[in-house]
Amino acid sequence: MVTELVLDQVSVRFALPGATVAAVSDVSLRLRPGQCLALVGESGCGKTVLASALLGFLPGNAQVSGSATLSDEHGPTLDLLTATDRQLATTVRGRRIGLVPQSPASHLTPVRTARAQLEEVVRALRPTEANPRERADSVAARAGLTPQDLDHYPHELSGGMAQRVATALALVGEPWLLIADEPTTGLDRHLVDGLLDEFRRLVADGHAVLLITHDLAAAQRVADRIAVMYAGQLIEIGPPDSVLDDPGHPYTRGLGRSLPDRGFTPVPGMPPLLTDLPPGCSFAPRCDHVAPDCARRPVLTTDTEHAVACHRPC
Ligand SMILES: Nc1ncnc2c1ncn2[C@@H]1O[C@H](COP(=O)(O)OP(=O)(O)OP(=O)(O)O)[C@@H](O)[C@H]1O
Ligand code: SF4
Ligand SMILES: [Mg+2]
Repeated sequence: MVTELVLDQVSVRFALPGATVAAVSDVSLRLRPGQCLALVGESGCGKTVLASALLGFLPGNAQVSGSATLSDEHGPTLDLLTATDRQLATTVRGRRIGLVPQSPASHLTPVRTARAQLEEVVRALRPTEANPRERADSVAARAGLTPQDLDHYPHELSGGMAQRVATALALVGEPWLLIADEPTTGLDRHLVDGLLDEFRRLVADGHAVLLITHDLAAAQRVADRIAVMYAGQLIEIGPPDSVLDDPGHPYTRGLGRSLPDRGFTPVPGMPPLLTDLPPGCSFAPRCDHVAPDCARRPVLTTDTEHAVACHRPC
């Protein structure tokens, strides 16, 4: 059996009184062991909503369509978008897919130490583990924590330490796929480097990592593919050097120019309202290449190594 996660036309809509938020639109992707995919894009473009959809963490006003098929030898083949919460809790979360959430502090239980929470997850996910304490210490070390760090309560942890506890929690069950949502936020440079090295080690050991990040330099260092998201859609995907140094989409070109070492020039204009997307290309209002055919929505065809959703690529 091929171990993979295949997203096919995944869309997420939020129903609000009098409006619908098109948070994610028609995202198709494939992830396999040994791959690290970095998902990048401006704030609010749908990265966290996409990750939440895969693990069944969306609120009740969300409508999801498309499919996200998880297949591996560790459990039944499932469409994550239609699986029940019980199926996700007992066969997916932490076991086949680990999540480092974007706001880890809010996912930790306030009245128990990090160690108590980590050892509890060790006992739940690895019931045959002879020494949960040792296991907790070793997985914490991989996330850059000392055994002493684990003796703190969540309110005593800095943002960076809470981030690392969340990473350790996600690693405990040795899931083949790790989804890490902004895992380097609040970390010093050397801790960022340590965490990226850990991700590379995981990938070399046959895991897959979906790294959601604003840090293009980190994405370039650790990922073998970068996917760029804009207004809920994937607009470019390919090898990091190719996407960042030779972008095809005008938005990706603009993102590159906004890097501190490449001119620090922000992309002019603002992303569109997700409640009121333009009918054609959603980047058209900000695009200096716009032409009449851009009134048709461009589609990302993923049959090439470097794919671009644009009628007139750079
Ligand atoms: N429950 C909800 N109801 C309505 N809209 C929502 C809901 N949750 C998220 N959104 C909207 O969906 C869009 C995508 O949000 P998301 O959190 O995925 O962005 P993001 O790319 O992760 O941003 P950031 O980089 O800041 O973390 C945003 O416009 C957000 O306001
Ligand atoms: S499809 Fe047209 S408007 Fe959209 S990014 Fe390409 S050139 Fe610009
Ligand atoms: Mg987010």
